Amino acid sequence: MTEPLTDPFGRRIAYLRLSVTDRCDLRCGYCLPKGFKGFEEPEHWLDFAEITRVVGVFTRLGVRHVRLTGGEPLVRRDLPRLAARLAALPGLDDLSLSSNCTRMEALAEPLYQAGVRRLNASLDSLRPEVFAQVTGGRLDQVLRGLAAARRAGFKPIRINTVVMAGVNDGEVEQLLEFCAQHGFTLRLIETMPMGSTGQAAQNQYVDLRRIKERLERRYPLIPDLLPGGGPARYYRLGASDTRVGFITPLSQHFCATCNRVRLTVDGTLHLCLGQENSYPLRALLRAGVTDEDLAAHLREAITRKPERHEFNERPAQVVRFMAQTGG
Ligand code: GTP
Ligand code: 5AD
Ligand code: SF4
Repeated sequence: MTEPLTDPFGRRIAYLRLSVTDRCDLRCGYCLPKGFKGFEEPEHWLDFAEITRVVGVFTRLGVRHVRLTGGEPLVRRDLPRLAARLAALPGLDDLSLSSNCTRMEALAEPLYQAGVRRLNASLDSLRPEVFAQVTGGRLDQVLRGLAAARRAGFKPIRINTVVMAGVNDGEVEQLLEFCAQHGFTLRLIETMPMGSTGQAAQNQYVDLRRIKERLERRYPLIPDLLPGGGPARYYRLGASDTRVGFITPLSQHFCATCNRVRLTVDGTLHLCLGQENSYPLRALLRAGVTDEDLAAHLREAITRKPERHEFNERPAQVVRFMAQTGG
């Protein structure tokens, strides 16, 4: 099992994004349609033993980083218990979380105690009415969640902002000030055409190179590398410790350095966020597959990883909503 996982394009796969539920308590317009009912049936959800088993085999194949995602991962009951089981796996160096933070006030402490250290939090606006319009939720609840995460010790905390024309594109400087005050890193994200909602959101698409030019007129932006090999390109604001990251799948895609695959709550391995290539694992797990055979299946799955997404060339291609794959 020792040979590291490498895809047909020579990329080392060392990072697994684990979607623990496709459900969410918010309804961001670019992600989930209002009134959506098509969630996965509970009998199809991988249970904690099944999840831990798959992650365990992945770690033996060289996966070092697991990120818990959703939907909204904190909606999954007993998430800290799962996190503790994963954190205890030998070979797993880094357990992180992407959350909308609505439930973080109560869960920050138990999740930190379970071994989660790094947090990416969604926050599209600091104006309560705009926040409510985009997400259907309450800004004050999320701000309390973020404060609790900071108190619990999460570090780094990165703020994910999907930039939308006429909604929050004028608010980037305020978001950056907010992040500088709290020691957070701001990451700006281009809308991706995931599902009908993401496709409709392309009407609000903003090429983040324009925002970068705007910020450069105000702050010196010094290129900065952060470890992890994720999709963001980072810059430091002058001599300060504040950083801003740009996630630009449409204007400047980053697929050549992709290091990740995604496991959804129903036990499907998705090889690319922007393509439909997948490999079903649930039936294998429930038929009593051995660890050796499971490892062979994971290797086979990785041979299906496509070279890149085609969000520009084939924007109607992905029918999954972002909440179904977890970003
Ligand atoms: P780290 O690099 O571990 O900090 O995390 P991340 O930036 O990958 O994770 P996060 O969940 O915060 O995702 C931020 C945004 O990046 C989301 O909009 C994701 O959909 C997007 N993203 C993450 N990975 C990929 C990828 O492989 N391809 C594309 N196109 N977008 C991605
Ligand atoms: N395009 C870009 N980003 C999206 N997210 C959800 N849907 C989309 C989309 N269609 C972001 C969320 C969250 C992250 C995990 O993915 O805002 O910050
Ligand atoms: Fe929920 Fe995140 Fe999708 Fe918003 S972007 S609806 S918070 S999963």
